[in-house]
Amino acid sequence: MKIDVIILAAGKGTRMGSNTPKVLSELASKPLLQHVIDTCSQLSNSKLHIVVGVGKNQVKQSVLTPKGTNWISQNKQLGTGHAVKQALKSLRPGAMTLIMYGDVPLVNIKTLKKLVSIGKNNLSLLTFNLDKPKGYGRILRRGNKVAAIVEEKEASTTEKEITEVNSGIISTSAKILKELIPQIKNKNSKKEYYLTDVIQLATENKISIKTVNLDSTNEVLGANDKQELQKLERAYHINIAEEFMKKGASFADTHRVEFRGKVTLGKNSFLDINVIVEGESKIGKNCFIGAGAVIRNSTIGDGVRVEPYSVIENSSIGEDCKIGPFAHVGPETWLDKEVEIGNYVEVKRSKLGSRTKAKHLAYIGDGEVGSSVNIGAGTIFVNYDGKKKNKTKVGSGAFIGSNSALIAPLQIGKNSMIGAGSVVTENVPENKLALGRSRQRNLKIR
Ligand code: UD1
Ligand code: CA
Repeated sequence: MKIDVIILAAGKGTRMGSNTPKVLSELASKPLLQHVIDTCSQLSNSKLHIVVGVGKNQVKQSVLTPKGTNWISQNKQLGTGHAVKQALKSLRPGAMTLIMYGDVPLVNIKTLKKLVSIGKNNLSLLTFNLDKPKGYGRILRRGNKVAAIVEEKEASTTEKEITEVNSGIISTSAKILKELIPQIKNKNSKKEYYLTDVIQLATENKISIKTVNLDSTNEVLGANDKQELQKLERAYHINIAEEFMKKGASFADTHRVEFRGKVTLGKNSFLDINVIVEGESKIGKNCFIGAGAVIRNSTIGDGVRVEPYSVIENSSIGEDCKIGPFAHVGPETWLDKEVEIGNYVEVKRSKLGSRTKAKHLAYIGDGEVGSSVNIGAGTIFVNYDGKKKNKTKVGSGAFIGSNSALIAPLQIGKNSMIGAGSVVTENVPENKLALGRSRQRNLKIR
């Protein structure tokens, strides 16, 4: 079955008070509209029709859409019904239609599928209940049947007490939509064409209305202002954390963790408070991620411990590594298993072999380090000569004494040692001790 998805994204969003159109407001670092697009793209055989108006070029440029997306202009924002009207001529004969609001970002794909399946030959409507329904259209029922939706502005005091509200999401056939939408009038306090009037029109036209009512409210919350956006932001991260918990991960506090991207988390892993996981990141099983850690576009192997306030970006961390506290790994760093990167250590564009350790105060830049290397406190890979970045290669089993400066380009052979405080400018062969420092003199002073 072909599905035409109409996404309404033409409004300015005055209540949001931002410089950008409301649908570009970010939720988990991604525009609201992008969330809607990503969810709807998962419907098989679907085509997206996105209605844009205020800041339309900016909106178009700020989101990624599936191939074949149809952009439709609504030049004057005369209401949600008017916005849908602009899309009518693009609907394919025989297709089902699904209407989405660009500011309702957390809808579950399963819910949409259900709504579409019952919308055939009917009109299906997604409703939910809110203790404080302010701002939402109220669902008026006669007996069990939905009779109409009344907008907050038009509602009487008793109607305002109704807690069943309109999510804005509707499904029906292209044929029914084409029949009903042109009948919508703007006789209301805002002089707008309300899409919600389609419900009453359907009942008058003997089209039956089916509803899907959701218990969980997070899924269809809209974002009209900054407070609602904040609520959604929290709901988003909590939803993800709860999904991970079902699979065996745990959290110090689901209110203090953020997932800003496409993230996976293995079972029995634990995330302490204020952890941020961003971009495309994978955290394996049995990991411990300490307070305030930031993990961005990275892969963390099983059994890794990331101590508090460490930042890992665009990197791959092997099994059973220990990172931090206060470590910065990345970008472009690859750690084999059981590597230890300790306090105030920065590793950048480097490869470190298994069991290599740099436990305190070091900078490893453009390094290619073998396994079981010990990098002493204060070691600097001097990779920059003022013009370009140079490589340092360190063979397995080497021992770099504390406070050494390794002036790249440089090669240090397997199992050799660098005396503490050395400035190493020449390659060191295997199994040698290099001392690149002046001999101590004790001079008489009194
Ligand atoms: C709308 C519904 C309300 C529902 C609520 C759910 C109407 C009349 N009301 O109210 O019943 O409970 O959503 O969140 O539909 N838009 C256009 N063109 C326009 C006007 C709006 O494209 O001319 C777009 C907006 O960009 C937005 C969406 O439609 O993405 C919804 O508009 P909004 O003004 O936020 O409607 P609500 O007042 O929230
Ligand atoms: Ca809204």
